[in-house]
Amino acid sequence: MSPKKGSVAIGLDISSNSVKVAEITIGKGEAVLTNLGIVHIPEGVVRDGEVEDGVTLAEALKELWSLTGMKGKAVTLGIANQKVIVRPIELPYMEKEELESALRFQVQEFIPIPVDDAILDFDIIEEFMTAEEERMLTVLLVAAHKDMVQSFIEVLRAAGLSIAAIDLKAFALPRSLIPLATLQGGYEEGEALCLINVGAGITNVTILKENAPRFARFLLCGGDDFVRAIVNRLDMQWEEAESVRRGMIVNPEAVNVLEQEIVNFVGEIRRSIDYYVAQTQERVFNKVILSGSGSLTVNLAQEMNRGLRLPVEIGRPFQNVQMGRLPYTPEELAEIEPSVAVCVGLALREVVE
Ligand SMILES: Nc1ncnc2c1ncn2[C@@H]1O[C@H](COP(=O)(O)OP(=O)(O)OP(=O)(O)O)[C@@H](O)[C@H]1O
Ligand SMILES: [Mg+2]
Repeated sequence: MSPKKGSVAIGLDISSNSVKVAEITIGKGEAVLTNLGIVHIPEGVVRDGEVEDGVTLAEALKELWSLTGMKGKAVTLGIANQKVIVRPIELPYMEKEELESALRFQVQEFIPIPVDDAILDFDIIEEFMTAEEERMLTVLLVAAHKDMVQSFIEVLRAAGLSIAAIDLKAFALPRSLIPLATLQGGYEEGEALCLINVGAGITNVTILKENAPRFARFLLCGGDDFVRAIVNRLDMQWEEAESVRRGMIVNPEAVNVLEQEIVNFVGEIRRSIDYYVAQTQERVFNKVILSGSGSLTVNLAQEMNRGLRLPVEIGRPFQNVQMGRLPYTPEELAEIEPSVAVCVGLALREVVE
């Protein structure tokens, strides 16, 4: 779909410590970032990517809309939590339209929740023939608990908003982290990328081959967990541990704890990638593209490079948009950029697809 000129898309990322929104206006064939806002939310309002305190969350959303002065109410909402699963499945060949209506009757055996309690989505990955010459499809299936989605819908409604589309945060990342020219077909044959967004409490990993998402997983840990480890093990104040994590002060003991945590973290990510390799026999990756402010943790990118044995590139979430008039200085924008890969990618959904 090519969006209408002058049309507006809003991406909403409800994260652990903050709620972030990006508004993109399509004009003259260009996507312009016309609004961008972040409000912080107290701990416990969103837990592990799910709504915990809907009342406070709705207040935060209202605050975000009044802060940014955004007029649009319909958003593309990103989700990443334990109530959504993404997995590749194999099905007998059918046309896409047929699959849309037949999916519900085909997938119960693949998902751990009753189909009637799930919202389903899919992407066709490839077609293949079995040894018995049966035509088959590999499909990336997404199944989300209706209740979890409903809880987001209710919060949005309480804030006077509505959902235009729902997307996995993992599927939003490519639209902001991969250059538009590559997304629109300019990839190399067989090109495989691993996108990693390290947030405060959640890390999203997306593997793509020739631009198509093949694998999406999230880990329930992020930048704040590094700080927490230092605080807990050394009985240090949070602010001081935070400064160690940002490389602003050097305390050998704390640096030691941090380094160990980072090695373990990268090990977790490597296990996710190894799992994908074992499942698909696809073992060639061109590079890792990193985002999320948690990825700024001192030495994290270097350890990714060492531990995953892959080149690591720092993603630039603003690369696919023109900057509209935003109420931030260039320095502020540079600081915000790593943390908005998800909401910008959500807002770019209509532009890229
Ligand atoms: N300059 C920095 N150096 C290191 N870490 C930083 C820096 N700035 C922010 N962080 C950390 O990055 C994390 C926040 O990243 P981000 O804004 O991407 O997360 P989030 O989207 O709010 O969280 P999540 O996606 O986990 O729900 C926090 O742990 C924060 O302390
Ligand atoms: Mg986030």
